[in-house]
Amino acid sequence: MVIPKITPQSLCELKRQGEKVALLTAYDYPTALIEDSLGIEIILVGDSFGMTVLGYDSTLKVGMSEMLMACSAVGRAVKRAMIVADMPFMSYQPSNSAAVKNAGKFVSSANADAVKVEGAGITLERIKAIIGAGIPVMGHIGFTPQSLKKFGTYKVVGKIDTEEKQLIEDAKALEKVGVFSIIVECVSSKIIKEIKKAVKIPIYGIGAGADCDGQILVVNDILGLFQGKLPKYVKKYADLTPVIEKAIKEYISDVKNNKYPDEEHTYK
Ligand code: KIV
Repeated sequence: MVIPKITPQSLCELKRQGEKVALLTAYDYPTALIEDSLGIEIILVGDSFGMTVLGYDSTLKVGMSEMLMACSAVGRAVKRAMIVADMPFMSYQPSNSAAVKNAGKFVSSANADAVKVEGAGITLERIKAIIGAGIPVMGHIGFTPQSLKKFGTYKVVGKIDTEEKQLIEDAKALEKVGVFSIIVECVSSKIIKEIKKAVKIPIYGIGAGADCDGQILVVNDILGLFQGKLPKYVKKYADLTPVIEKAIKEYISDVKNNKYPDEEHTYK
């Protein structure tokens, strides 16, 4: 049976019907298989991969080759969800041609359906070039982790009037260049209401309150697999670290005490 893929058009239709969209990150085949089979509409192969899986101290260190490998693995698992690949730091900033070439690699060789690009302003030109090449783009404003060094720290954005106005202008400019949706990170729900009045495209939130058209979280965070401090907006739906620890401890003990392999796990 052919399962229809989620597309930019079907996401607009979900917004029109008032149905919220559930987005989640994934970076590997087994996780993507579970997410897709359960109905996650958009799987983001986020550059959070660098911190959650590769152990870097920020997203700035993830490269194209690492992101392409993660995206390919996710793509092999997914039938229905839209796969959005996060353009890593310095894969689009240098030039329009770098932006188009790298976005193209995600689509042509790593199974992505779209790419996500952080920021607006001078980045709009890059986004326009990628869309011009026929690749759908998801925007990302508010707190943008690739600009961590500019922000100075992880923080809520839009607390001052000028920042709030800028966010609304950025959302309008992104819609104008043709992004199919925007992720807004770490802003108040008041700002989301203003952004939603200003643009027609779907607005998905992370730490941006309940008024968004959908929500995105990092899968390792909701499963309790990230060992660092989590932001206030993250809800831990499971605590898998102690579960894994218990299993590995038991295995070690069984091996040391000659309890594994037992008869059941040995070829006759
Ligand atoms: O990289 C990522 O996972 C993201 C989400 C947090 C939106 O950009």
